[in-house]
Amino acid sequence: MRHVIDITDLSVAEIDGLINVAEDILKDPKKYRDSCRYKQLATLFFEPSTRTRLSFESAMLALGGGVLGFSEAASSSASKGESVSDTIRVVSGYADVIAMRHPKEGAPAVAAEISDVPIINAGDGGHNHPTQTLTDLFTIRREKGHLDNLTVGLCGDLMFGRTVHSLITAMSRYGGVNFVLISPNELRIPDYIKANLTRDNIPFVETKNMSDVMPGLDILYMTRVQKERFFNEADYIRLKDSYILDKPKLADAKPDLCIMHPLPRVNEISKTVDADPRACYFSQAQGGKYIRMALILKLLEVTA
Ligand code: NCD
Repeated sequence: MRHVIDITDLSVAEIDGLINVAEDILKDPKKYRDSCRYKQLATLFFEPSTRTRLSFESAMLALGGGVLGFSEAASSSASKGESVSDTIRVVSGYADVIAMRHPKEGAPAVAAEISDVPIINAGDGGHNHPTQTLTDLFTIRREKGHLDNLTVGLCGDLMFGRTVHSLITAMSRYGGVNFVLISPNELRIPDYIKANLTRDNIPFVETKNMSDVMPGLDILYMTRVQKERFFNEADYIRLKDSYILDKPKLADAKPDLCIMHPLPRVNEISKTVDADPRACYFSQAQGGKYIRMALILKLLEVTA
């Protein structure tokens, strides 16, 4: 049985195939509206979510399936002390596929060991977020037409930002990609990710200064400073507004720059940027539904 815990659980060919299916769904959604009839998706969210959970649920409903689940740990038996393993053992008897978000790194991997049905990691702590990465890759391919030969700037909380970790891992597998990692010193990318880039001879630079690197970027991926991962409120307050993208900062950017953000946005992107044709973040969120439809079809081994 297939689980998606890490983005490398899918090969590059499989990811390209999922993007092709998502494109086909966008062209002809009616073709897919009964594909998952009588199938159930459980969304077990032990951490807050808007887009990830609702796009998973919208995806399953658009495939003709059903959804069940919870949106906070407090309304599940986790609040009574139940282990992830016991919860999964039971829910895998109620559903055909499970999308799960948990504050502890590795919790979905534990779930996959016990589950009778596919587990999808919908975000585990500050670690990984593979389906956001599928959403991001879908956006980049639609905007740029390809996923190779790109200069990708990632800006903000690169330490705790799980979407960044999975996106770097995924894009490292396409040729000619190089990374510009823009963050304050305290929020630099974890060493294990840098070690992987070095091992694979993938060019990257680290900088604190966004404006110096702006002219070279094909993609600018902004991120929120991950308040919930900080031990100390004072550090969060000091770092939270490290980068605020506004129109003057885009003056030297390429005319076809693609500005992305996994959302939610706090202050990282001024609302004045929303009307810029290079702002892709809301269409990015919309695409999350279609790529998750493609993923559900794949894991349930059903076609249109
Ligand atoms: C991200 C997450 O949960 O990691 N949101 C999302 O899934 N679109 C990013 C964030 O919360 O900052």
